Amino acid sequence: MSIKKIITVPDETLKKISVPIEKVGLNEKKLINDLFETMYHSKGIGLAAVQVGILKRILVIDISAKDEKNKPLSFINPKIKKISDETSIYEEGCLSIPDTFIEIERPKICEVEYIDLDGKVQNMKCDGLLSTCLQHEINHLDGKLIIDHLSKLKRDLIIKKISKTKKNPDRIVV
Ligand code: NI
Repeated sequence: MSIKKIITVPDETLKKISVPIEKVGLNEKKLINDLFETMYHSKGIGLAAVQVGILKRILVIDISAKDEKNKPLSFINPKIKKISDETSIYEEGCLSIPDTFIEIERPKICEVEYIDLDGKVQNMKCDGLLSTCLQHEINHLDGKLIIDHLSKLKRDLIIKKISKTKKNPDRIVV
């Protein structure tokens, strides 16, 4: 297992659409292990393969509380089959968009179909935080980020701020 580098905005890879997996093999299992390790290391609750620069429709989630045992969930080729009319709002952050939190309203309940590590089709009904987290990660597989919920002006401001922080130039006074 290894910790991968998480890519951040404005990296154009984050806007790309990830490709479905045809067969779950060793590479996919290794990638899932790496995603978990990277996610736990970065203290996130979800991570999509595209965030480490790999355009495969794979994501991992663990919404267990700090004092609980880990509950790792992995989803291959996840597809949302059903959503509720009822919505919930969370303040969402993203490991690819440092120090940015945005209130986003999403369907409270969703039903997802996906392939598990054994290559079997599974279904899961997700509610609350898990539902929001899953929708956030599936958005990543389609090249969509939380800042896409904002106006272009606000989005550009956030990207500009992050790009500046990243360069971290020496400050001089002359
Ligand atoms: Ni994210």
